[in-house]
Amino acid sequence: MNTIKTNQKSKALVTGFSSGIGLAYSKYLALNNWQLELVAQNPEKSEMAFNAIKNKDSTYHLADLSKPEGVQEITNKVKDPDLIIANAGITMFGEAGSIDKEARKDLFYLLCNGVIDLIESYVPNMVKKGKGRIVIISSIGAITPMPKSSIYASAKSAIYSYGQSLSQELSSKNISITVSLPGYVKTEAHSRAGLEHLREKIPSWMWIDAEKVVSETEEASLKRKSTVIPGKVYKLVRPFLGMSLSTSIWNKITKRNNKK
Ligand SMILES: NC(=O)c1ccc[n+]([C@@H]2O[C@H](COP(=O)([O-])OP(=O)(O)OC[C@H]3O[C@@H](n4cnc5c(N)ncnc54)[C@H](OP(=O)(O)O)[C@@H]3O)[C@@H](O)[C@H]2O)c1
Repeated sequence: MNTIKTNQKSKALVTGFSSGIGLAYSKYLALNNWQLELVAQNPEKSEMAFNAIKNKDSTYHLADLSKPEGVQEITNKVKDPDLIIANAGITMFGEAGSIDKEARKDLFYLLCNGVIDLIESYVPNMVKKGKGRIVIISSIGAITPMPKSSIYASAKSAIYSYGQSLSQELSSKNISITVSLPGYVKTEAHSRAGLEHLREKIPSWMWIDAEKVVSETEEASLKRKSTVIPGKVYKLVRPFLGMSLSTSIWNKITKRNNKK
């Protein structure tokens, strides 16, 4: 039987492509010959980012991934990705008891339950094909306390745990799951959360570039590692993060002020 050779590109689904880590990841994948299915919610930002990615085989979709309907819309439209970059997210600042129920629910869905809904809808097909790659952008907050960002930290921790378990479960099916735990990355995330002061407050050695997060995360994913902590500084401090002395130093350096 003759086999027909096609130049069909592999397909990657990237959520939160319109700025920061997601934009850097999308540019990287476009340069490496992927067909991209991109998701964000702001139309103007998305159009600008899409033009900057410059990839004629790509498409973008607008959806609010903090709602189950938004995730469902995407899983209905985007079929059978070979690679999923579950990156979309915001950070949220607020004392315990000050964030209303709806906002807490949306944040947790965006960072955790929605990522699970997205991944679970594509996994059966990956298993059928006998291959696939999944990257989840969690946060160093998954493994260290973040006072006044407790909802964010707990959602990132839960999705980290999900990814770790899935990684073990699916490794025998040739599907890799890598959870990336970045520290402070220079993106729009902090200004969006009213945390501009962190730009000045956090020492420069604690900031890493989105491109660095992408290169180290992609390298770990290709090596089928289940976790990666991008940046030398964070790799060095990682063993001490749970200890009380280091936690109190960490919290002093990264203290989140009241917005007023
Ligand atoms: N920056 C850091 O220091 C840092 C550290 C650790 C982990 N992370 C994680 O990295 C990921 C990317 O964040 P970033 O730092 O690159 O921030 P960013 O520049 O603000 O980008 C966030 C992206 O997520 C999208 N997004 C946010 N809410 C969405 C929603 N409801 N529905 C659909 N898309 C939505 C945004 O699109 P729209 O603008 O259209 O909403 C944007 O494309 C997040 O999961 C974040 O928690 C960031």
